[in-house]
Amino acid sequence: GIVVSTLLRDTGLVTVDPGFMNTASCESKITYIDGDAGILRYRGYPIDQLAEHARFLEVAYLLIHGQLPTVAELSAFEERVNRHTLVHEDFRTFMGTFPRNAHPMAVMSSAINALSTFYPESLDLFDPETVELATVLILAKTRTITSYVHRTSKGEPLLYPDYSRGYVEDFLRMTFAVPYQQYEPDPVVVRALDQLLILHADHEQNCSTSTVRIVGSSHANLYASVAAGINALSGPLHGGANEAVLTMLDEIKANGGDATDFMRRVKAKEAGVRLMGFGHRVYKNYDPRAAIVKKSAHAVLEALGQNDELLDIAMRLEEIALSDDYFVSRKLYPNVDFYTGLIYKAMGFSPSMFTPLFALGRMPGWIAQWREMITDPQTKIGRPRQIYTGEVERGWVERTAR
Ligand code: ACO
Repeated sequence: GIVVSTLLRDTGLVTVDPGFMNTASCESKITYIDGDAGILRYRGYPIDQLAEHARFLEVAYLLIHGQLPTVAELSAFEERVNRHTLVHEDFRTFMGTFPRNAHPMAVMSSAINALSTFYPESLDLFDPETVELATVLILAKTRTITSYVHRTSKGEPLLYPDYSRGYVEDFLRMTFAVPYQQYEPDPVVVRALDQLLILHADHEQNCSTSTVRIVGSSHANLYASVAAGINALSGPLHGGANEAVLTMLDEIKANGGDATDFMRRVKAKEAGVRLMGFGHRVYKNYDPRAAIVKKSAHAVLEALGQNDELLDIAMRLEEIALSDDYFVSRKLYPNVDFYTGLIYKAMGFSPSMFTPLFALGRMPGWIAQWREMITDPQTKIGRPRQIYTGEVERGWVERTAR
């Protein structure tokens, strides 16, 4: 729990720190987390205030530029992003060439990486205007690509963007609308998705963000760096927990919906039985994002007139956990993923889309962190050391003599 801020030059001293649990790789002004107190702030603003008042692109601007935009700055930024949501026609063809059952995160990272080949004018890492162009292009086209990932997985035609609609509203239309038919998403759904994207927008030096920074530290371009972040996020230990929550709730329902019996098995540490969506490496208190998502789950289900038994089971599990010594003594609280899967399911997303939605939300954070890294005079190419534990020197043995 003690932070010692030193900037060591190469002293010959090497520490082994698996998982970098005690190693800060950088100084950062972007996101502050106090896991014991359950605090998360972007650029100093508490997450609950941003979730209540801000729009996703407003938060993206804040993370990337360090200040909340003025009304004029926000509308210019939103307009610019909106104008770039169209992708090149050849890119649409490219998106259509993946097999239908392709892993959506593999499609997404390939697509974002491929964007750099379509926009070579946006690749100068050290020209601020070009970096801003790449930022806008990525935010705009990731939205289009995420909706295309959903549609290609269903074999559905890809729709063009509608510039007159907002970022989230048009994402929903491009994802769910039937071609040539009117589509008006429920405002509660639009707001809830906007809020979920805000809640996922940054979380300091997690696995995918550290990946983005370390790839970028070799001066790989922004597209290559964030595509690497998507690959890091695709792992089930990072981005896949909300899908696992849904699977767990489904299983409890299929077994008669007995939450108490399931918790007995969790506490007995039966092989493979964990309360998914609970616990966090950093938060040892209620994840501030989870409280917001829980409220939103109720609002969305009510607005859509859905009554999902899985939400009742989830609430029952939480209720048991919050008063049970096993969970209380280990400081296990719901994390952001406990209720998000239920909301995405109610909105009509299949579980395989949950992690791409996480990536869509995290994009501003990855970009902000890459930009901070590339302009930080302290940045050096990421190059951890190791402790060699292999053979000592051996002499060559002729092939026939081995
Ligand atoms: N259910 C039951 N017991 C748990 C859980 C859980 N979800 N999480 C931790 N524990 C127990 C462990 O068994 C261990 O018990 P012990 O002291 O008796 O051995 C103790 O709590 C500490 O657990 P660790 O695994 O050491 O905690 P760590 O910080 O390494 O793990 C993690 C954090 C991976 C998130 C873990 O809590 C977990 O597996 N949770 C479920 C998966 C999940 O929800 N992941 C999403 C994380 S948030 C995100 O990525 C956006």
